[in-house]
Amino acid sequence: MTPRTLAIRNGGEAGFRAWQALFAARAPWLRCVQWDDPAFVPEDADYALLWDPPAGVFPRMTKLRLIFSSGAGVDGILACPDLPAHVPIVRQAVPGATQRMGEFCAWSVLTLLKEGRRMAIAQAERRWAYFDPEFAATERTVGIMGLGAMGTRSAEMLRGLGFSVIGWSRTRKAIPGIESFAGPAERTAFLARSHILVCLLPATPETRRIVDATLLAALPRGAGYVGLGRGMQQDQDAILAALESGQLSGAVLDVFEPEPLPPEHPFWTHPRVTVTAHLASIATREERADFMLETLAAFEAGAPLPMRFDPARGY
Ligand code: NDP
Ligand code: OXD
Repeated sequence: MTPRTLAIRNGGEAGFRAWQALFAARAPWLRCVQWDDPAFVPEDADYALLWDPPAGVFPRMTKLRLIFSSGAGVDGILACPDLPAHVPIVRQAVPGATQRMGEFCAWSVLTLLKEGRRMAIAQAERRWAYFDPEFAATERTVGIMGLGAMGTRSAEMLRGLGFSVIGWSRTRKAIPGIESFAGPAERTAFLARSHILVCLLPATPETRRIVDATLLAALPRGAGYVGLGRGMQQDQDAILAALESGQLSGAVLDVFEPEPLPPEHPFWTHPRVTVTAHLASIATREERADFMLETLAAFEAGAPLPMRFDPARGY
């Protein structure tokens, strides 16, 4: 392979060293340079790997031909004001990440089904609080908004646990055992069936504040909500109000706006909210390095890039 330079901005100094070691073992032709190193020369970089690039560097990257997101979303990259429009962006969706997301989603849904937050509070208070969770998985329908790589694996795993699973996406899907709803016209019918709603949508202009008071009111009374997509999709005040009114019985939230969730936010102490720190799923560096090298081989051979961000769709 022709020698190439990859500029990395991920995980600080330790993260850079880890990436460097992985690529040295797999692709000696790929020179890794650290974006935040004072000696970094942006003009040298052929490719970049990052999450939330600061402004001011891309205009100097005159050789740049491909940008890798370090995760599944590209919202941090799109927020950069001088992002070059002509350079393709590739997002990560490796099997290890979809598996982890499926596990996290299953845990979140089971936490709501089994009232895990109630048990955790009782334990913290050393209180023997016997209760009988009301429903079995076979009596509940989980609705997943977003049936992409993450949503599909999550749907399959929930189905394996005995839930009925339905999904809502822009285009109709044919996933065995998962009923598919598509587009705005079928949203209300989808929501009306979702005893537990999971959001696994990407951040786009259409999905901004999609989880608002109107959407929550369309769920069956006492529904659960699992937020795994992006904080910008959620009206956090509407979620709190729905919890207060009983429209929502509980929520598991992994994403917020802003992040980190400020210490004074009521979600932290809410007796029916489980807060996690945007950790639902991230692939290992090994998996991502392998995926990137396969993508680079395809890219250099002029083949299509399957995980390429599509600016027209917004994801
Ligand atoms: P994909 O691009 O594979 O899937 C996105 C899905 O959302 C598709 O099914 C798409 O429909 C659907 N969709 C997009 N816009 C709309 C819309 N306006 N209305 C209805 N459906 C829509 O993404 P991934 O599954 O890989 O990831 C999804 C998101 O999960 C990421 O963008 C990120 O925000 C989040 N994420 C969160 C993580 C965490 O740790 N909390 C980790 C990883 C990802 P269609 O299939 O028709 O195109
Ligand atoms: C991602 C994430 O998009 O971690 O990969 O949220």
